[in-house]
Amino acid sequence: MRQTVAAGNWKMNKTPSETRALIAELAPLVKDAKNKVIVCPTAVCLPAAVEAAKGTNILVGAQNLYFEDKGAFTGEISADMLLDLGVSYVIIGHSERRQYFAETDETVNKKVLKALEKGLNPIICVGESLEQREQGITADLVRMQVKIALQGVSAEQAKTVIIAYEPIWAIGTGKTATTEQAEEVCKTIRDCICELYCADVAEAVIIQYGGSVNAGNSAELFSQANIDGGLVGGASLKAADFAVIANS
Ligand code: PGA
Repeated sequence: MRQTVAAGNWKMNKTPSETRALIAELAPLVKDAKNKVIVCPTAVCLPAAVEAAKGTNILVGAQNLYFEDKGAFTGEISADMLLDLGVSYVIIGHSERRQYFAETDETVNKKVLKALEKGLNPIICVGESLEQREQGITADLVRMQVKIALQGVSAEQAKTVIIAYEPIWAIGTGKTATTEQAEEVCKTIRDCICELYCADVAEAVIIQYGGSVNAGNSAELFSQANIDGGLVGGASLKAADFAVIANS
């Protein structure tokens, strides 16, 4: 049985003080949550988040990392730095990073390999644009993104990966994919992993849906056979809403 995972992607929101306040508000609301609860604040807020989450069931993830260990890479953050803080998850290849910060399937793969080598759990984001969906290439595109992201990843490592299917047209738009659309692509991803590895690995991998998940639609989305929770943006910034999602 896979555990459902609710991860909050806070994006470029909340200061360190606001991070402490939001986690303090969230913690009692999710203390008995069935789902694993992860919050992913921006890098400068990670120390505050780890501190505030101590003694709770809330885990902390980063929104990005760099694929080199150390050195002359101004502005970047290494896996060791995140681990040293007590961060255990890292979002890799979010569509906003692909769109605004020139991330490619290749850099996503390098980051996934580095995260796994160091023992950080990657949350790998894949998903199509509206144009690509209308062109009928969603399944091909998502399969390609998954295959490249997992190049060189062993079967044992692959079992620890989370894949977030996030149609770009559903992110921050209030336009959620239908349950059928979300389930169909999440199943495509699981079938792809089965081809790449085996049924065992495909059964173990957590596949989330992301894109305008909210307190009203999370229960139905998460009840699908191949949807193991969600990567949540806007609704994760409100403790009450994210608590409902985490309890879905
Ligand atoms: P959203 O963002 O929930 O605000 O649509 C999801 C995401 O980008 O992970």
